[in-house]
Amino acid sequence: MIQAPKGTKDVLPQESYLWQHVENTMRKAAAVAGYREVRTPVFEHTELFQRGVGDTTDIVQKEMYTFLDKGERSITLKPEGTAGVVRAVIEHSLYADTLPVKMFYLNAPIFRYEKPQSGRLREHHQFGMECFGAKEPSAEAELITTLLAILTELGLENLRVHINSIGCPVCRPVYHAKLKEYLTQYKEQLCADCKERLDRNPLRVLDCKVEGCKRIAADAPVMLDHLCEECDTHFSGLQALLNGQQVPFRVDSHIVRGLDYYTKTVFEIIMQSGREGLALCGGGRYDGLVEQLGGPALPGVGFGIGTERILMELSNQGIVVEEPSVSDVFVAQITADDKADAFNVMQKLRNEGIKAECDHVGRSLKAQFKYANKINAKFIVMVGGDEGLRGMVRVRNLTTREESEMTSGDAIIYIRNNGEAGK
Ligand code: HAM
Repeated sequence: MIQAPKGTKDVLPQESYLWQHVENTMRKAAAVAGYREVRTPVFEHTELFQRGVGDTTDIVQKEMYTFLDKGERSITLKPEGTAGVVRAVIEHSLYADTLPVKMFYLNAPIFRYEKPQSGRLREHHQFGMECFGAKEPSAEAELITTLLAILTELGLENLRVHINSIGCPVCRPVYHAKLKEYLTQYKEQLCADCKERLDRNPLRVLDCKVEGCKRIAADAPVMLDHLCEECDTHFSGLQALLNGQQVPFRVDSHIVRGLDYYTKTVFEIIMQSGREGLALCGGGRYDGLVEQLGGPALPGVGFGIGTERILMELSNQGIVVEEPSVSDVFVAQITADDKADAFNVMQKLRNEGIKAECDHVGRSLKAQFKYANKINAKFIVMVGGDEGLRGMVRVRNLTTREESEMTSGDAIIYIRNNGEAGK
């Protein structure tokens, strides 16, 4: 038996309505905020992520699905959404348009070779919003309020945004040196990964989940105490805007994020249920990335959120989404000879936008009724028999149990007026 690869998941017909519900909510919120959809390829040249996401990150070092294609080019399946969008901005000179350029991607497949566990998949799907050309903190505030609007609309509660500033190329090197000095004293107590991080990216030690490292990180100097004036003003500006909107947030100096491109603001929402400390979403500002990838100096800011984690959180918080009916009307053929007429009535209903089905498997009339009940149809339209000879059909309303004879044209009107069907 061939099974789906480890860490991947099928979305089956009985659950796809949940995905659509989440997607619709995201689309609406993004449109209200003036973001338009962008779709970029599932694979890119490996170099994009090495240069964009950063050579020292876990994603690039350990988690990428990289292979040589038949033309001997190194190709990587997208391990995150931002780098591809930045590449597209540069390649199509989108920065020449009126700024800011605001884009979202919806359920982009993302691939990371991680140890599969609850909430951690090898293929997951992200909704992300990216804004280019906006240096003001209102761009972050807009992203955060849109994100919260989506999650609140979905019914999620107890949401709190953790925000931090990790500085810029002016203030971060000074802080890095201080942090490294502090961490070096405890080098022997750090985990193997953090020992490596110490040299290449000491900030990442603050994010380590290993208990010993967490204890050391607790007393480490924090970036917030070392921000330059510009970064400090920016961060205060963001907080003032969030306060003005009564956004529930907490300044959390340990949010550093696992990708190298961030500058100034970073933020996460942590899941309230399920595995401890798992992020529901993450994002931040990346003012140097466009230039780093060969474009002009153009600030950027965005976030990504995993659809699978949203669905986990909805389920853990007991939020029920009503499943739409598959078909509202079942058109039954009284005998096999009535098939063409039944098919014709079904087609008329569908032409009016009413969800209708007919028999495809040669069921008896009784079995067709059973099937209609099983699919939760609200009406059965019987075609054929004596009514058929008179040019009529028989309509049974399965909610009221009423039954009457009418023309197929009147049946459409009756069904439209007496149920959710076709509304
Ligand atoms: P990230 O924090 O690596 O950021 O991922 C964003 C979100 O994707 C996470 O918060 C989580 O919901 C989901 N996610 C990540 N890894 C997995 C996984 N293995 N299984 C299931 N869900 C997962 C980024 O990718 C950045 N590109 C976000 C961003 C956009 N920053 C600026 N713009």
